[in-house]
Parts: sequence; structure tokens; C-alpha cells
Amino acid sequence: MAGSRRLLRFDEYVSGCLYHPRLGFYRRSGRAGREGDFLTSPEVGSLFGRLMARAVDSWWEEMGRPEPFGVVEVGAGPGTLAAGILGGVRASARALRYTLVESSGVQLETARARLVGTPGVEFAEAWLPAGSEDPPLAHLVLANELLDNLAFRILESSGDGWLELHVELSGEGLGEVLLPVGGEVPFPRLPRGVRIPWQVEARRWVETTLGVRHLRRLVCIDYARTTAEMAPRRWWEWVRTYRGHGRGTHPLDSPGHQDITCDVALDQLPGSPSVISQAEFLAGIGIDEEVTRAERTWRERAPVGDLEALVARSTMAEARALTDPGGLGGFKVMQWVR
Ligand SMILES: C[S@@+](CC[C@H](N)C(=O)[O-])C[C@H]1O[C@@H](n2cnc3c(N)ncnc32)[C@H](O)[C@@H]1O
Repeated sequence: MAGSRRLLRFDEYVSGCLYHPRLGFYRRSGRAGREGDFLTSPEVGSLFGRLMARAVDSWWEEMGRPEPFGVVEVGAGPGTLAAGILGGVRASARALRYTLVESSGVQLETARARLVGTPGVEFAEAWLPAGSEDPPLAHLVLANELLDNLAFRILESSGDGWLELHVELSGEGLGEVLLPVGGEVPFPRLPRGVRIPWQVEARRWVETTLGVRHLRRLVCIDYARTTAEMAPRRWWEWVRTYRGHGRGTHPLDSPGHQDITCDVALDQLPGSPSVISQAEFLAGIGIDEEVTRAERTWRERAPVGDLEALVARSTMAEARALTDPGGLGGFKVMQWVR
């Protein structure tokens, strides 16, 4: 219709692109995995889940072995990490009550089909929905690559204040519009034209989760840096799009057909999480021993070329991918412990 025009704040636009009930990327087919749109650590292979299962066992011991032991994984995707943890835990296995929270109904159904019959498993579409009186028991909350997928705002400095990025929808397509930002902005003045993300929703999500009764540990894994590190970069270096296993195009292209993510701004999150790289974290839970064992098996079995040899070779390749400092190994493991 000629002349019709609609304005969305950038986070509303992202939210629609990813989570619109019919047209959103994650409501259609968008997902992690080898057949999906991007490869996350659990989808690299079984090693990540096995190691996380060890971590879950040790956190259970550290918490004084609560029974039942509530673990909630938010943004669980098709359930790959859950399957790895549930299949790998030893000491805490009997006490474990594992809830997968996934807002995409399609993915939740995939996870459900995969874990059907596994004892102690629950499924939910929302974590702490407003008014919920009976949230799942959560001593431990895990979220792998969730925070970067929560809708985020984008600000641009006008030199002496802040403008906010909006998306204009008109007969001619989508375009950028900058409007004065309403209310207080918690950032220092920056040179004119500099853009930064404002991750109000990620902050709120962490804050709400930290307020949960019984919570002892929150573990979020994501690509993350500080707002100050992002400010000098061009905004499409920290806002990234993905589709069909490759990088996507401009975030305003093909709404609903590509993933839109943002590096997590560590300084915008509440509390004081400990932050280490995924490579360091995996070293702490025994990835090197797994690799040494796999290398030995590979040396012994490679001439035979049997299944054991293939599994060992796969473990070695997975470990390289999970600890690559320029890739998944450079991700940050953020932990809030109470
Ligand atoms: C990048 S994927 C990561 C999936 C999985 N954790 C992995 O590592 O392979 C992010 C997932 O979070 C889900 N998600 C986004 N916002 C959510 C929310 N508020 N509650 C639950 N799930 C959410 C999306 O549907 C998507 O499946």
C-alpha cells in the first residue's frame, strides 16, 4: 500500500526475525547442527556433552549432593547437549532432574522424540514464564549460545548523546532510521557515529535467573567481549548473521531466513561472573586426558582401521575444534556461583 510505513526498534525487529510465531527463523527450520545453519559445541560431536557431564557431576559434589538435583538447560535446541549430559553423568545420575527449555516448538519436539523414555527429563517452552508459580527445580542452569540470540538494541552516538537504531518497513523495503533514545543510557560519551549494542534482554534474563530459589550456579557459554571492545569496530563485526552453515548477509536482508546474533557484552551483564575461555574451561574438566587417550588408541588401531580407530580420530578432531582459539575455543564460559 503506497505511503504505508512502520517503524520497529532494532530489538523488536530482531525478535520478529527470530521468534515470530509463523515467520521467525527459529519457528521455521532454523537450528544448530550438521544439517542446520550453524555448528555449536554440542553439535561438533559427542565430546563436548561427555565433558559437560563430568562438570555436572563435579558441580553436584560441590553443592553437597542435593537430591533431587535440578538442572535446567535453556535454549536447548534439538537436545544434543542434554542427550550428552544425560548419557554421560555418573555420580549425579540417580539424583538428576533435567529440564530442557526451548522456545521453538519444532526443536522442542525433536528433543522430546530423541529423549523419550529417559528418566528424570522434563520439557518446557519457557523458562520462568510471567506468573509461573511452579518453576522447574534449578540448582544449576546451563545456556549454550542463548544470550547472543536474545533480542538486542543498537545505539549510535551523536557526539553529545545517543540515537537508537530502528528499522523502517515501507513499500520500498527495509531501511535504517535513527531516532533519539528515550530515557537514560548507561554508557559514557563516545565519538559521533560509534555504534554499540545495548543488551537489555540478556541482562534481564541473567538477573531473573540469578533470582531463582535454590540456584547455586549459572553457566552461560557464548562469544563475548566488552562494550568498549565492540565500540571501535564496525557494527556488522559484532552483529553476525548465519544461514545454511555459512555467514548470512546484512541483518536487514531476508528477515526470518537467517539467524541474527550479537557478541555478548560482558560488562552489561549483572553480578560478577567468572569468565574464562572455553579452551581453558575444557582443559579444567579433562579434555587433555581425552585427547591423550584418543591419540594412543589411534596409534594402536589406525593400522586395523576399525571403529575404535575412527572414534579416536573423531575425538581428536572434535577437541581441536572445541579448543580452537579463533573459533569455539575462544568463546567465553561465564559462571555465576552462589
Ligand atoms: C544458537 S541456538 C543454540 C542451541 C543449543 N543450545 C546449542 O548449543 O546447539 C539458540 C537457541 O535458543 C532458543 N531460544 C531463544 N530464546 C529463548 C528463550 N527465551 N527461551 C528458551 N529458548 C530460547 C532458540 O530457539 C534456539 O534454539
